[in-house]
Amino acid sequence: MLEIKNVSVQFQGSKDAAISDINLSFDKGDFVCILGKSGAGKSTLIRCLNGLQKPTNGDILWNSNSLAKKNEEQLRKVRREMGMIFQHFNLVPRLSVIQNVLTGTFGYRSTFKNLIGWFTDDEINRAKKIIEDVGLIDQLDRKVEKLSGGQKQRVGIARALIQQPKVFLGDEPVSSLDPGTSNHIFNLIQEMHNRHQLLTIINVHDVNLAKRYATRLIALKDGKVIFDDSPEAFDEDKFHLTYHSTNEKLGTLPIYN
Ligand SMILES: Nc1ncnc2c1ncn2[C@@H]1O[C@H](COP(=O)(O)OP(=O)(O)O)[C@@H](O)[C@H]1O
Ligand SMILES: [Mg+2]
Repeated sequence: MLEIKNVSVQFQGSKDAAISDINLSFDKGDFVCILGKSGAGKSTLIRCLNGLQKPTNGDILWNSNSLAKKNEEQLRKVRREMGMIFQHFNLVPRLSVIQNVLTGTFGYRSTFKNLIGWFTDDEINRAKKIIEDVGLIDQLDRKVEKLSGGQKQRVGIARALIQQPKVFLGDEPVSSLDPGTSNHIFNLIQEMHNRHQLLTIINVHDVNLAKRYATRLIALKDGKVIFDDSPEAFDEDKFHLTYHSTNEKLGTLPIYN
């Protein structure tokens, strides 16, 4: 469904590649969590998947179609099949919950309709249904800036879902939230993943959370895949390999994202 073929990204002026020669393939139904310390290349990799970041080498195949060959308009079509949620939510604070969710339909509309901000009854009804699904129906007209972090991420999830995506991408979606709220958000993601039969790929900094929800774990280090297996196979050794430099003593470092 989604394949990464020999992908490298080298930023101008950087000595080392952000990610180098990555080969991975994902199928519908996979719930993948990507681990790795800060700077490992997690964000760069996930941005390559929906065409936000162009690989320096290699290609992404989406249902066997090369992203490298697509123009911006074609990439926009791919992007609307991939709903994304972010660490800092990327919402419009002064707009209401439903207005933010409706912005998720923009990939399907003409620029003119987006400019005048007019939505069809069908779009509004779908937005309400999804807002109900994420547990915010009583907050429909509330400005997003008044919501808690967990509620904001529920809006982020609803905005991604209104695109009717086939892939759900998350770039550290719970890193700004407390542990209890993070669990609720992951529960919701899992529920939506199952209900809509998605492929879900999420960057996570909390190993325990990743192990609890993922069906497959991938660890990146210095831009390379160093682990790709079941969550059960991610043991102490793999943990140290992922989060510590090779020459560091084992056992004392906390996890930074
Ligand atoms: N826009 C950019 N320009 C230059 N270097 C970048 C850019 N984005 C990321 N990098 C570098 O690429 C590497 C991987 O970064 P990133 O993908 O953000 O890692 P992570 O999300 O795992 O923290 C880091 O060394 C980072 O400094
Ligand atoms: Mg990142």
